[in-house]
Formats: sequence, C-alpha cells, structure tokens
Amino acid sequence: MQPHTIDKQLFTREQIQTRIHTLIDEIAANSDAENLVMIGILRGSFIFLADLVRGFEQHKIHPRIDFISLSSYGAGTESSGSVKIMHDISENLVGADVVVVDDILDSGRTLAFALELFLERGARSVRTCVMLDKQTERAVDLEADHVGFLVEDLFVVGYGLDYDNHYRELPYIAEVTFTER
Ligand code: IMP
Ligand code: MG
Repeated sequence: MQPHTIDKQLFTREQIQTRIHTLIDEIAANSDAENLVMIGILRGSFIFLADLVRGFEQHKIHPRIDFISLSSYGAGTESSGSVKIMHDISENLVGADVVVVDDILDSGRTLAFALELFLERGARSVRTCVMLDKQTERAVDLEADHVGFLVEDLFVVGYGLDYDNHYRELPYIAEVTFTER
C-alpha cells in the first residue's frame, strides 16, 4: 500500500442504512419471489448482500443465496482488464431470476462478465445491484438496475470495499487520499 489516509467519509453508516431500506423495497417490488437467487460477487459484496437479504423477510421473499469470487483487480487500485472465476457458485440457475450483487460498478467488466455467465447457465433473468456506481468511463456498455449511490471517480473503501484487502470492515464509505512519503 502507498502512504494514504481514509479521513474523508463520503457516505456515513446512517446514510447507507437508510438507502439499504429503500433498495430492499425496490428489489422486492421487481422480484418474482418464487425463484429468486441472490448472487454476491466476492469479496466486496459480503456486507452489502448480508444487509440486503435481511430486509427480505418483511416482503416474504426467501431467496436462494450464493457467491462467486471474481477477480479483475490485482493487489493495487487499477483494474487489469480480464475477469477470472476464482471460486464458482454451486446453485443451479436454470429458470431462476438472478440478482447479482457487487460493491461497486467501475469499468463494468466484472458485472458484465457475471451477467453473461448466469444467462449462459440458463437464468430466466439477471438483474444487477451495486452499492456504488462510479462516475467514470466504462470499458463495457453496462448500467446497473439497482444503485445505492453515485460516487465520483475516486478510490473508495469501507462497507466491503478494500484497499489491498484492508478496510472492508468499516461501516461507512471513505475516500482513500494518497499522501506524500
Ligand atoms: P469493474 O470490473 O472495473 O467494474 O470493477 C469492479 C470491481 O473493482 C469491484 O468489484 C471492486 O472490487 C473493484 N473496485 C473498483 N473501484 C474500486 C474502489 O474505488 N475501491 C475498491 N475497489 C474497487
Ligand atoms: Mg470486488
């Protein structure tokens, strides 16, 4: 890691929790409760997905839940371009209505890869849900169906998002400011 600080909170715990509730209603209103599969992209989505699904009970939605581990970033803060499956889901997706959950939409490669993969495997529909939508140029033409917040083209951490696998535990989202040595 380069010298940095994480002093600038962009979204507080309260802002995130408030938005989660409206997102849950949004997803529930658009979901066929019968055959819903929520798939989190690891590792960034684990907190977001856990918060989302805990709101489903009040909508009487009982989705299957699975995770896929995809990697496009190395240890740094720049996307490398190609997406690899590091660990696959185990659920059968034939006829399923899938909601793919990720922490952030950046170049769009990760989400586009997941979307195509799950459709190839027979999902009836695949929708996408991200906590953050980075306002940057996409490498692929893709917008998410459900978005928590728009964020500027910064490097951010917290609420599942990491810098070199640190800071995922923060209950808020902060900007990483790179400092001089
Ligand atoms: P994409 O494939 O370029 O859209 O990248 C999405 C993935 O890159 C996300 O799942 C994140 O893991 C990672 N990522 C992109 N931007 C950030 C960031 O600002 N902080 C931490 N991780 C990020
Ligand atoms: Mg990630």
